[in-house]
Amino acid sequence: MAEETQNISALMAEERTYPPDPEFTAQANAQPGFYDQDPDEFWEKEARERISWFTDFTKLKEWDRPHAKWYLGGRLNVCYNCVDRHVENGLGEKVAYYWEGEPVDDRLTITYADLQSRVVKAANAFKSLGIGKGTKVAVYLGMIPEAPVTLLALARLGAPFTFVFGGFSANALGSRMVEMECEYLITQDASNRRGKAAVLKSIADEAMDMAPTVRTCLTVKRTGSDVTMKDGRDQWWHDVVDGQSDDPASCPCEPMDAEDMFFLMFSSGTTGRPKGIVHTTAGYLVGVATTHYYVFDIKPDTVYWCAADIGWITGHSYIVFGPLANATTSIMYEGTPDFPDKDRWWDIIERYRANVLYTAPTSIRTHMKWGAEYAQRHDLSSLKVLGSVGEPINPEAWVWYRENIGGGRTPIVDTWWQTENGMILVTPLPGITTLKPGSATRPFPGVKAAVYDEEGNEITPGDGAGYMVVKEPWPAMFRTLYNDDERFKETYWQKFPDAYLAGDSARVDEDGDFWMMGRIDDVMNVSGHRLSTIEVESALVDHPEVAQAAVVSRADATTGQAIVAYVTLKEGAEGSTEKLTELRNHVGTVIGPIAKPANIVFSNELPMTRSGKIMRRLLKDVAENRELGDTTTLADPSVVEELKARSES
Ligand code: WTA
Repeated sequence: MAEETQNISALMAEERTYPPDPEFTAQANAQPGFYDQDPDEFWEKEARERISWFTDFTKLKEWDRPHAKWYLGGRLNVCYNCVDRHVENGLGEKVAYYWEGEPVDDRLTITYADLQSRVVKAANAFKSLGIGKGTKVAVYLGMIPEAPVTLLALARLGAPFTFVFGGFSANALGSRMVEMECEYLITQDASNRRGKAAVLKSIADEAMDMAPTVRTCLTVKRTGSDVTMKDGRDQWWHDVVDGQSDDPASCPCEPMDAEDMFFLMFSSGTTGRPKGIVHTTAGYLVGVATTHYYVFDIKPDTVYWCAADIGWITGHSYIVFGPLANATTSIMYEGTPDFPDKDRWWDIIERYRANVLYTAPTSIRTHMKWGAEYAQRHDLSSLKVLGSVGEPINPEAWVWYRENIGGGRTPIVDTWWQTENGMILVTPLPGITTLKPGSATRPFPGVKAAVYDEEGNEITPGDGAGYMVVKEPWPAMFRTLYNDDERFKETYWQKFPDAYLAGDSARVDEDGDFWMMGRIDDVMNVSGHRLSTIEVESALVDHPEVAQAAVVSRADATTGQAIVAYVTLKEGAEGSTEKLTELRNHVGTVIGPIAKPANIVFSNELPMTRSGKIMRRLLKDVAENRELGDTTTLADPSVVEELKARSES
């Protein structure tokens, strides 16, 4: 753990603390004493307070390790909870989304009544195409209103979905549709991105060629880009949706069992094959609504902005389901932070008087690099809480965020969680927690997180780093891996028989605050996106001229980690700048642009152990310009020396 030790000492040198502001505490949703609640009573109370049930649950939870069930016997519908009941309760005129499209003046204000009307029309259209309870649907959309509308309409009908991030390739989309056996796909012609159209439909076409189960594809017209429509399979969204009834009674919300599958989210694991993470209905909804309410201190008039993409778990939980369950007004945004200028975000915050901004450290560091003057052009005094998610936030970025965006006043909630978790698990609570830059502080009430040593003993606070684990189930916990319960058990529950293994290392300081130290496995975190080294290696080896590839990550000041690939070409192929571009693009085609390596080093040989294993640890030392670690097991020590020389040149 040499590398982690270095990180720890850097982080542990951080001694600044930021106690809560008494004025904030006086009005906060989470009051002192919040942590003293009994977990079971807490989750029972929140479920009844925050969610409307068609049939009340009869049992809080069942824990047959590693399988959990929550709110047994309960029946509910997510769309009803996120939309219809708010309209019934007189909130129809309240804004659900301020939608900011690209270009700048492309805007929409969508009230809860508007949202209901759009969702009912879409659900009626989906129904007319044959989608019903249990039909599996893939969604491949950008940040347009039809994205939440589609998810809510599917929830209304009880159709499980997988939403695939628009930056993923045809191959990634296709393999996910195959894995889930999706029968339908909802997509759009293209997205607006920095003044250009980023195509989705033609990628979807390629993906559908791989996934013969898909029989109908609905396409939203966003940019008017050219698309090919295949007879009998492809239809335009507006042709099918616009003429439908928007009367909620024409398409009632399907009562779902608490444990019915709600959605699948595919995420990178330590092998090339992405894992289908299964989330179910009730526990997920209770978990995201509850955490959203307390962590971001949501009030009836809060204007909330999570600047993630709906294609990631952060977007599912904290752009769509958590905020809507709480009848919150959110900002949703299609563009990029530097288009038309680098003050785009701050302009949006000023115009809508946003109270909360939730984003990733990589974005904060990008803004930091551009300079505070862009933020200074705008009045950001409406901000009350700032959030961070997706990767460890370095204290420097934390302090910059608080000073330059939060006016030196706002609490920062550094929220640690994962796709598997569904909801925030470790986080400060604004108004209660004394903040420390770089620490995610405490497990959320009712979450039994801990740090274990190699033998599975809990490490005493202040006593070093170990494995991040969770000892008891939480409501939004994933239930299994789709069609692969064995892999679920092996990946998460084998190392320690009594706890969920998160795959991160962490330490707890003397005060009981958690410091997250990054992944312990082959999962990389690039700009807050999870990618596995093996996935990128397979993509490289898939190129006809690549013989062998080894992928590692190195630290990067903006993206957190950057991908470095060491590649051996087949006989006759030459490493060149052109080849480098070609290989980067190849990875972009196989996985998606986010997976393109930042560097590729060509080499005649890779460092191997005598038993033929590539020594990634040494490659990481090379990539990070460190003194080489132990090389005694190498078959040919001169290989790394040569690589070092090549990397430096
Ligand atoms: C990392 C994103 C440190 C971590 C919601 C985890 C973090 C992985 C934090 C999950 C944080 C997320 N501090 N590290 N506040 N939040 N991570 O599944 O390594 O895309 O295991 O979920 O991101 O990424 P995922």
